[in-house]
Amino acid sequence: MDGKRPSQSSTTLAQVMGIGDANSAGNVHGGTVMKLCDEAAGLAAIKHARRRVVTAGMDRMDFHVPIRIGELVTFAATVNAAWRTSMEIGVRVEAEDPRTGEVRHTNTAFLTMVALDDDGHPAAVPPVLATTPDEQRRMREAELRRANRLAERAEIVAHRAREGE
Ligand SMILES: CC(C)(COP(=O)(O)OP(=O)(O)OC[C@H]1O[C@@H](n2cnc3c(N)ncnc32)[C@H](O)[C@@H]1OP(=O)(O)O)[C@@H](O)C(=O)NCCC(=O)NCCS
Repeated sequence: MDGKRPSQSSTTLAQVMGIGDANSAGNVHGGTVMKLCDEAAGLAAIKHARRRVVTAGMDRMDFHVPIRIGELVTFAATVNAAWRTSMEIGVRVEAEDPRTGEVRHTNTAFLTMVALDDDGHPAAVPPVLATTPDEQRRMREAELRRANRLAERAEIVAHRAREGE
């Protein structure tokens, strides 16, 4: 299967945050941000795999600063790495105050998406062709997160076996 450049699938969603997105503190609800990260990541994964995908997990969801109601928020999703059937997608969230033009980096998220065939089974995806220094760094860091995830899972299985669970 031929590889694909991250730029071939990168996807940006933009949305103005309205009053329905507010939490009790009057800023944008964290769940709204997570949902839109998931949507942007899913679209990038579909464009990479050209198949339907499901969200298998979210490794990180960092909230750096709150997003205010009325701000224009963009969700930029990039495929960082692909393995057999899964892909890690990084999402960078920025909020712009349309009155001042100030742009703030508000969130970073890393999600794992799995491609499915027509029967709903995991399906092979193209490798990522990382050529720029940034793309290569993102791929190395995605490999680290995957290694940590697999190591944690193996450790928990071993712990349960020792405990006789
Ligand atoms: C994700 C899912 C398809 C994996 O199915 P599975 O039977 O475990 O399949 P496999 O064991 O063959 O794993 C397939 C891939 O998913 C990855 N994966 C499975 N669970 C994962 C998790 N929790 N986090 C990250 N990756 C995961 C595996 O590492 C594997 O990757 P690889 O093929 O690139 O090496 C299945 O668990 C599922 O359908 N989950 C529900 C998804 C869902 O409903 N999401 C919300 C709505 S979109």
